[in-house]
Amino acid sequence: MPSAPPPVPAAVPEAETAWFSDDRFGMFIHWGLYALGARHEWLMNRERMTAQQYERYARHFDPDLFDARKWAAAARDAGMRYVVLTTKHHDGFCLWDSALTDYTVMHTPFARDVVAEFVDAVREAGLRVGFYHSLLDWHHPDFTIDGFHPQRDEPNAAELNEGRDMARYRAYLHGQVRELLTGYGRVDYLFFDFSYAVGHTPQVWGAKGADDWGARQLMAMVRELQPGIIVNDRLGIPGDLVTPEQYQPDRPMEVDGHPVLWEACQTLNGSWGYDRDNHDYKDVDLLVRMLVDGVSKNGNLLLNVGPNGRGELDANARHALDGVREWMRLHSRAVYGAGASGFVPPTDVRYTQRGDRLYAHLFAWPFGSLHLPGLAGRVDYAQLLCDGSEIRMRVIEPGTGAQNTIQGGQPAATLTLDLPVRRPDAAVPVIELFLRG
Ligand code: GLC
Repeated sequence: MPSAPPPVPAAVPEAETAWFSDDRFGMFIHWGLYALGARHEWLMNRERMTAQQYERYARHFDPDLFDARKWAAAARDAGMRYVVLTTKHHDGFCLWDSALTDYTVMHTPFARDVVAEFVDAVREAGLRVGFYHSLLDWHHPDFTIDGFHPQRDEPNAAELNEGRDMARYRAYLHGQVRELLTGYGRVDYLFFDFSYAVGHTPQVWGAKGADDWGARQLMAMVRELQPGIIVNDRLGIPGDLVTPEQYQPDRPMEVDGHPVLWEACQTLNGSWGYDRDNHDYKDVDLLVRMLVDGVSKNGNLLLNVGPNGRGELDANARHALDGVREWMRLHSRAVYGAGASGFVPPTDVRYTQRGDRLYAHLFAWPFGSLHLPGLAGRVDYAQLLCDGSEIRMRVIEPGTGAQNTIQGGQPAATLTLDLPVRRPDAAVPVIELFLRG
């Protein structure tokens, strides 16, 4: 009789996740051989390249402008508090000096352990360290061909699977995760990617999930090697946080009716890896609104950059980060340590709250008055956050009728703020409200 699978290892204790909810904002970095192809990190899949064809990028991987300290500084300056790097993506190429394969950065002209340099630089910048690690591996000879594999359309795909042994791949996967979690000091966060056996539409033939990864054993090993690490939910078993990808949840996320930690991962232009000819960039205002919108629903934002084949953030990424940096410079206290508020905001406003500070983020700038339901008598003082200028407040009695220049009454308990006509020059203007005790 097969033995019962080990139980799902307990989620990390809540005390260990406090930093994550406080920090709210991280940088995702997708970097690997696909930066050279410069046409999406799935190009091996999309163009049905064989491992041999794809290896040309390994022979030409020589990012002369790579400087992990610059990446870390860009993240820190933009107000991000943790950084998550792709140690290995689905193409199987490893950015660290793995003893378990030659398909690593050490066997390219570059020959430097990118993960080691990354970890040092990120820690030196005072930020938390995160790894992304792909469960899929389109280069490994034991990873069976399935509906996502670059060789999925080969007429002899079935034959190609003869002799491939997922048990051997599993051992390799676990061995590499062990290397990453023992060779680089403390790792705060781990993003496995991804399972597609259950609930993936449309269905993919040969789809893989928890059993293929040995997910329970893998999770137990991760917890043992790095107590306190936060692990995502893509192993096919529950993790510590859920990871909505390229959409904004419309409310705080829940699993089985219980609120959960969540983090939206978002791209600048729809692609994770460097994608030269894709100009579908979100503007800075939208990026800031996405950050705020998430925090107002108790979520984090993991915002991605895809450095190019020479190791640099290109002008588009720099422009986006500069814009976010300028907003965060003046408004970060409406983000760090803040979360959803019990007060209900009016249309086009998001609230974030930290203790007795309530932040009204104005997604649209109204003329003259901003009416805030339920806040009359609850606010001691109000100011524009960007310049610390007072915002005057009043309560318009419910009975008052509107007439000529006299503004009509508001529903009971509504607080009215008098705004300047000119919208302050900020991606999202914020009003800081000091609540009464
Ligand atoms: C995915 C994609 C991928 C990207 C990732 C980021 O599922 O396969 O290319 O790395 O999600 O969340």
